[in-house]
Amino acid sequence: MTAMSTSAEAAVTRTAASFEVGTAVLDAIAGDFAVQIARGLVGEGGSLKMLRTFTRQPSGRERGRVVVVDWGGTKARAGLVELGGGGSARIVAEEALTFPDAMKRGAPEPVFDLIARVVGRVARAEGLGAAPLAFVYSYPARLERLDRAVALASTKGWRLQGLVGRDVAEMLTAALERAGLARIRLAAVANDTVAALVLRSYQVRGREAEASPAAIGLILGTGTNLAADLGPAGIRNLESGNFDGVAGVETPYDAALDRDLDEPPPGAQRFEKMVSGHYLGEILRRALVDLGRGPGGFRWSAAPALATPFGLDSAHLSRIAADRTAGLDDVGALLRSLGVESTPAERHGVHALAAAVARRSARLVAAALLGTLRFLDPRLDDRRTIAVDGSLWGGYPGFEGLVRGTLAELVGPARAGRVEIAFVKDSTSAGAAVIAAAAAAQRSEGCSSA
Ligand code: GLC
Repeated sequence: MTAMSTSAEAAVTRTAASFEVGTAVLDAIAGDFAVQIARGLVGEGGSLKMLRTFTRQPSGRERGRVVVVDWGGTKARAGLVELGGGGSARIVAEEALTFPDAMKRGAPEPVFDLIARVVGRVARAEGLGAAPLAFVYSYPARLERLDRAVALASTKGWRLQGLVGRDVAEMLTAALERAGLARIRLAAVANDTVAALVLRSYQVRGREAEASPAAIGLILGTGTNLAADLGPAGIRNLESGNFDGVAGVETPYDAALDRDLDEPPPGAQRFEKMVSGHYLGEILRRALVDLGRGPGGFRWSAAPALATPFGLDSAHLSRIAADRTAGLDDVGALLRSLGVESTPAERHGVHALAAAVARRSARLVAAALLGTLRFLDPRLDDRRTIAVDGSLWGGYPGFEGLVRGTLAELVGPARAGRVEIAFVKDSTSAGAAVIAAAAAAQRSEGCSSA
């Protein structure tokens, strides 16, 4: 085995350690998170937007067919979901589309037209005439009604010209009309975190009407965000990716990444930039490039994947973590596919650094969850369910265990044991369909009781 020099190994160890956030600091972050929830709710500012959602918990009896548009990243989907009551939701049809990079910084209309075209294809294939549509818009938006959502700042690398301040529901409706689909009527706009929360509630209440609904919805994929049922304040979209209470634990890599990006701009989405799938590979890449400048290892900075911003992604981190061989053979194969010949010692270094970046993400996520749980129930006396979805949570080996372990470290095993974490895979479309169907049911109840 080719050894790295002792000083190079020490540099790896030091860098990995710089991603460690201790228990007391995490506890303080959780406390700050709870304080910022309270401030956001009363409009005193802070980094949590606490946006209204106009969504209520479902009964579990919702039924019907709902067209769904799910737009929250580089890809979008249009589909048809059938709710059968009793907690069942079936995706009858679905078609994905990918946005070309140039579109992300252009005018919004072509994006909405592209989405409407895919809706049209699904509708034609399914022989649909009139149908309600649920629109999952997984970016910050201020809802004024369930079907009116004013776009706030962009996230996840998008910057559509003139989008901020406009109603995305109206823009999708206009695009559907342009596409000759006026009978497909937008009924609800929702965030993906709210869809995850509501789907879980629908599933458990569909099976048992008296079951407690989910209290929190968490997405941990390209981006990250939380929704929470705050009782009288309703279900709120926290936009927790923007939480800024993590600045104190940033490494030089985080600081440089924040500074170098123009979208989201420096200072925005600080939590997301340290935690979510869009950024973890980039944090690792920056650490590797930096270590390559020191003595004795990682001399690969010319390799395209290392020289290019975002040349590594979180799927790489997941693959690195999954390699359990003594010589880290698959890490070697992965690096080779990126144009890098590595020594076993370097592979161990990469493994340690990648694990440190992911571990920090999981620990910060646990702190944000704890802040939310404490806001709901300071002593964590009651059982609560967190519904979780997202590619990083689902794809990174052992992520859930890291979050659970951190919660137990912070509040002790008994209290942590009262927190149920339910992975609701592919929740977005089905959850949005439930939101639209629940709203329709509430409207008709409203009519019959009036
Ligand atoms: C970003 C978006 C947010 C979304 C999250 C997860 O943080 O701003 O709305 O919920 O990503 O997709």
